[in-house]
Amino acid sequence: MKVTVVGAGAVGATCADNIARKELVRELVLLDIKEGLAEGKAQDMMQTAALLGFDTRITGSTNDYSKTAGSDVVVITSGLPRKPGMTREELIGTNAGIVKGVTENILKYSPDAILIIISNPMDTMTYLALSATGLPKNRIIGMGGALDSARFRYQLSEHLGASPGDLNAVVVGGHGDTTMIPLIRLATWNSIPVTSLLSPAQQTQIVADTMVGGATLTKLIGTSAWYAPGAAGAALVESIVRDEKKLFTCCVSLQGEYGQQDICLGVPVTIGRNGWEKIIDLGLNAEEQALFNKSADAVRNMNDVLKTL
Ligand code: 2OP
Repeated sequence: MKVTVVGAGAVGATCADNIARKELVRELVLLDIKEGLAEGKAQDMMQTAALLGFDTRITGSTNDYSKTAGSDVVVITSGLPRKPGMTREELIGTNAGIVKGVTENILKYSPDAILIIISNPMDTMTYLALSATGLPKNRIIGMGGALDSARFRYQLSEHLGASPGDLNAVVVGGHGDTTMIPLIRLATWNSIPVTSLLSPAQQTQIVADTMVGGATLTKLIGTSAWYAPGAAGAALVESIVRDEKKLFTCCVSLQGEYGQQDICLGVPVTIGRNGWEKIIDLGLNAEEQALFNKSADAVRNMNDVLKTL
């Protein structure tokens, strides 16, 4: 199996590093537009192979897409990251052109690839990748909800003193500070509803902190986060190449599910060898469905901006 990661910035490089450490594939290509960056980072990672004990071959490429030929999965991280005070949405103008160009180049050499979109604003970039390529919907996966759900589990673990791995909790809707919906009613600690363990004030705090999870880090670090976004991308790659059918919240094309269509939005899906395979209905209550519809309206407004570019 072969995987390509486009964009050798912090998120792309971390994603590649995780894929290599887990030895998910034999061949891994890291591509970037900046001269030498991908080659340098690929070589640096290869020099960890003897120390970490992996056999994945990582190759770097400066914009030579022929090196990516025959990739089974391609992770797209290209584009500008957020600066402090910026929303993901403000990146749309620049990143739309970049993501469109990247997907066209990738498909020239890997027409059967499954695409994982990380570039922001992620919901709109996923919608753009789907509409610009006309690929079957199951082959386009936006990563956002997988990351936001991991952040939600982190916040819950801090309040409960629990292991994040023992927590089951999902964030649906958009991948924006105001469009994501951490579903605290459905969150459990090894099957115990967390709502029975946390005060209403704690629950409100956890939901609020989850929603600004990315923005909080951007403020602290000065740019977008990369460890969790990179790890989330690699976890999706793992579920595809190992055909694990794991359940992740991902941004996928909705055609009536969750009451929405002509939009890509975060819902729980199984991820396997065919990309996203099945949408799972969580049975949202009226209040949650209203939030989901509001999130869809905001994302749809942003998608409309694509028409003006
Ligand atoms: C984040 O939330 C990169 O959008 C990503 O950190």
